Amino acid sequence: MAAPMYNFSIPSALKAWIDQVTFPKMSLAPRRFVVTHARGGAYGPGTPRHPYDHQERYLRDFIQGHYAVDDVTFVGTQLVNSRLDPALAARRAQHDESRAAALAAARKLGSAL
Ligand SMILES: Cc1cc2nc3c(=O)[nH]c(=O)nc-3n(C[C@H](O)[C@H](O)[C@H](O)COP(=O)(O)O)c2cc1C
Repeated sequence: MAAPMYNFSIPSALKAWIDQVTFPKMSLAPRRFVVTHARGGAYGPGTPRHPYDHQERYLRDFIQGHYAVDDVTFVGTQLVNSRLDPALAARRAQHDESRAAALAAARKLGSAL
């Protein structure tokens, strides 16, 4: 699943897809989910915006709570907006670092899968 953060949550098109394909008591175990994501800002643990991360929180809760899949991996990059927004330009190095880590993790996961 690929899911950018839109307004602290997931894009409406992804929510519409979930609404279309989901039915009650739907177990997808023992499958696994890999969610690749991007967000303009920083929402990691310890950041002021961490409580606003309803993108990962929602997907993790829904995949585990409704699809009964415990094997969920999130691979993502943060501070994407530092590439465009002068107010975030000073944090570009943090974005580059998180992007490199995400690409490395995605390659590793891709090989394993
Ligand atoms: C409609 C919209 C809402 C967004 N809301 C947020 C947000 O709440 N927090 C954030 O950090 N980034 C936000 N962003 C930035 C995106 O998460 C970021 O640009 C991401 O890379 C977009 O991925 P995409 O190009 O695949 O759509 C938003 C972008 C758009 C277009």
